[in-house]
Amino acid sequence: MYNDNPTLENLGKTMDEAKQGEVFFKESKRPGEKHFYIESYGCQMNFSDSEIVASILGEAGFQATRNMEIADLILINTCSIREKAEDTVRKRLRVFDTVKQDRPGTLVGVLGCMAERLKSKFLEEERLVDLVVGPDAYRDLPNLVAGAEEGEKGVNVFLSREETYADISPLRLNSNGVTAFISIMRGCDNMCSFCVVPFTRGRERSRNAFSIIAEATDLYEKGFREVTLLGQNVDSYKWENPENGELVSFAKLLEMTALVSPDLRIRFSTSHPKDITDEVLYTMAKYENICKYIHLPVQSGNTRVLDLMNRTYTREWYEDKVRRIYEIMPDCAISSDIIAGFCTETEEEHQETLSMIEFANYSMSYMFFYSERPGTLAARKYEDDIPLEVKKRRLQEIIRLQTQISYKHNQNDIGKTFKVLIEGESKKSDQDWKGRNSQNKMMVFPKKGEHKPGDYVYVKALEGTSATLIGEMVEA
Ligand code: SAH
Ligand code: SF4
Ligand code: F3S
Repeated sequence: MYNDNPTLENLGKTMDEAKQGEVFFKESKRPGEKHFYIESYGCQMNFSDSEIVASILGEAGFQATRNMEIADLILINTCSIREKAEDTVRKRLRVFDTVKQDRPGTLVGVLGCMAERLKSKFLEEERLVDLVVGPDAYRDLPNLVAGAEEGEKGVNVFLSREETYADISPLRLNSNGVTAFISIMRGCDNMCSFCVVPFTRGRERSRNAFSIIAEATDLYEKGFREVTLLGQNVDSYKWENPENGELVSFAKLLEMTALVSPDLRIRFSTSHPKDITDEVLYTMAKYENICKYIHLPVQSGNTRVLDLMNRTYTREWYEDKVRRIYEIMPDCAISSDIIAGFCTETEEEHQETLSMIEFANYSMSYMFFYSERPGTLAARKYEDDIPLEVKKRRLQEIIRLQTQISYKHNQNDIGKTFKVLIEGESKKSDQDWKGRNSQNKMMVFPKKGEHKPGDYVYVKALEGTSATLIGEMVEA
């Protein structure tokens, strides 16, 4: 669910153009027009939030642009999850500084988790920043921008217990017109000791289920064919219908979304192993359009380390979950997040993480070495005592093994036929389509017949690398 790479492709669109699902860039500007440029870092929640920000600014008269040179307002939606993520943001701010020196009226705003973590301190550290806005304060942006235009620096890092932006229709940035994210909850009430998210995103709250279904329906009607329901811990989604007191659980929400149309695929991220229920698994099994793929971060394969991490499950509990998933859905793929070199981790404990990768047979994983975050439980309680070289070496071992397992996973798929949703042309050749199967594997295959992005086709896998399956279209 996480992306450390800078994304400069946040393409701009005006409200109406986005509503029609067309990609459009404002490269030049007419007098009087105001433009914003936005870059997003971090997890899918941040990318989804940027679409909410774009909608709010659109209503306030700003047009989106991907050309920083014509922007009146440059925004960066930031991530604090690891030190490296923050370093990337600081580097981008140096680039924005030069734009600002060339065009002194340009405003620079820092949004998201790093804004929340550093609050007004950001303005002391980064003198050229005009706005610091936390993830729950985006409605205040037009007001803060207006103040900044008058020379007043603006900070709003208020964390809300209610805000879910339920009524805001996101402006789909950088959309392929086929797949979209829907944010179903915000914040996190877990206290994993390594993690900064509870501090930057605040308390967990679930969004009105009907507004989620309305958004999914609207996307389907606009031609989208896949939605990913997003939250830090989707399995603890819980919303009470104020009209009849009925509780909507995540399993129920999944079912409601699956019923929007059998042609709308449903994905979700992220599941916490402690919260994923059999009811969720049976709902997934019941509906063909709920993708057979679960991102189930393990973090470590050792019970003692899991306890220090405050993950609230043991290795055995996690193994049971994995068995249960494969029992109920033998064709389900599972992926993971893994941290190498957490405080006090021994070589033997590290080996247990490696053996977990084999046990769970992950189709892929996001892998990191531990990065201490100020203010977290781990930073306060444990010494970050694993030398950097050791962390890096362990991470390399994890990556090497996962690459082998992913390769085997893909080799195992050769000869099988999958239903694939076409997302667009392959990056390498306009003669090939790319799309994913239910298990979230990217498949690339030559174009044949009359098809377009958003169509479902059947693809037989012929070859596989560790990342992609190459195939050909076949009859169902
Ligand atoms: N809510 C999601 C994860 C959000 S952060 C979940 O619970 O799965 C994404 C991933 O970043 C985490 O799963 C973890 O593997 C990694 N991560 C979080 N904090 C980290 C830290 N301090 N150092 C290294 N990796 C970290
Ligand atoms: Fe962080 Fe844990 Fe919450 Fe995920 S579940 S966001 S890792 S505190
Ligand atoms: Fe996401 Fe990074 Fe914040 S992972 S929740 S953007 S700290």
